[in-house]
Amino acid sequence: MQPKSENVVWNHSLVKPGERRALLGHGAVTLWFTGLSGSGKSTLCNAVEKRLVELGAIAYVLDGDNVRVGLCADLGFEPADRSENIRRVGQVARLFNDAGVIVLTAFISPYRSDRSSAREILPAGQFVEVFVDTPLEVCEQRDVKGLYARARAGEIPEFTGISAPYEPPEAAEIRLPAGERDVDWCVERVIEYLRQTDVLAS
Ligand code: ADX
Repeated sequence: MQPKSENVVWNHSLVKPGERRALLGHGAVTLWFTGLSGSGKSTLCNAVEKRLVELGAIAYVLDGDNVRVGLCADLGFEPADRSENIRRVGQVARLFNDAGVIVLTAFISPYRSDRSSAREILPAGQFVEVFVDTPLEVCEQRDVKGLYARARAGEIPEFTGISAPYEPPEAAEIRLPAGERDVDWCVERVIEYLRQTDVLAS
């Protein structure tokens, strides 16, 4: 999106990304978790965040439900609002990454075009798509928040997987089969990826 005002320019910091990396001891990427409601995004993001902090890295989760209480309190679930939700989060992730923080985002982000726009917001290589690939049947069976039952009863319009689409990633950097594997397995898979790509020292 182009700024509404014409006379704004990005103000460059005197601190170089390399200086932040040297200070913190790791690189900064955005781990963009995508998957159905109840697929395990928040649980996995929180577990990876905890593991990263234990390893001495600075990491922070931006969570769909939390962001919708504040930053995106004005947005609903129609496609245009979901796009705006993802755009704002992409911009916040960019700022956090600029500050040197490893960001984990937990948003359904059901549309491929929105995820690819978020990828474009971030510098090359910094957007890491993590597909939490839990089948709809499993999410619906778990129904932790009771939302699937309500959506089936027609009480929640445009509910992802029931009355609104979910477009799975075609080439996610990481795929987590969270219906088959436990949390520890998934966390290790992400940490391994961060080591392989030199975000974390191996
Ligand atoms: S996104 O589509 O814009 O990425 P987001 O991750 O922020 O969605 O919010 C999803 C959460 O909002 C779900 O986990 C669920 O708790 C709640 N929710 C409420 N209404 C809906 C809906 N119509 N579709 C999906 N999730 C919904």
